[in-house]
Amino acid sequence: MLEKRDLPDMMKEIEAFWGIEDYFLPSQGEGEEKGDKEASLSALYRSALECKACDLYKTRTNLVFGEGNPYAELVFVGEAPGRDEDLQGRPFVGRAGEVLTRLINKMGFDRSDVYIANVLKCRPPNNRNPLPSEIFACRHFILKQLEIIGPKVICTLGKFSTSLLLGRNVGIKSVRGQVFEWRGMKVVPTFHPAYLLRNPKDKVLVWQDAQLILKLLGKR
Ligand code: URA
Repeated sequence: MLEKRDLPDMMKEIEAFWGIEDYFLPSQGEGEEKGDKEASLSALYRSALECKACDLYKTRTNLVFGEGNPYAELVFVGEAPGRDEDLQGRPFVGRAGEVLTRLINKMGFDRSDVYIANVLKCRPPNNRNPLPSEIFACRHFILKQLEIIGPKVICTLGKFSTSLLLGRNVGIKSVRGQVFEWRGMKVVPTFHPAYLLRNPKDKVLVWQDAQLILKLLGKR
């Protein structure tokens, strides 16, 4: 488990690398047609399967790449797979996933209408927070996924995905419900579903953020 005393150092390290723009993008894979999002995502998935850039591949059961509609207008980005996700190889299928699925349905979508992924593709042991070095090693996968899909809106769930896309270390409470931009896509941060399990009264704030997203999508 991450020790409390490690946190300040971790935050300093995170601040040092948020915002670096020259992340490595894998080149176009074989058979990958320009404009064919399924093929581009499959090529990226194959390179993630082989990734050994940090140690998490050693302890994972399954890679959790992400799932949903490659042409989605809305993408949700979480933090990292937990136990259930690691066992099933799918994002947000545990208790936090139930909360996210209910939110997606309440917004008028099925899970298959949107795309769901995480910053990290492998589970950190004991569900500890991602290490800066792990985010650094893994982030090109989520950034490339977002570039391929090119949604109108990216909803970042919690501090880690929000800080990555905003390019700076943020507290989720200070930015949630606002609209930011990343490479021409709108970014709306909100609370992580696991936080809502501990703080159900804040569901009302997440619903406000969801309504803002629907407005940006032209659904309200
Ligand atoms: N928490 C996350 O951030 N992602 C998941 O897939 C599950 C729980």
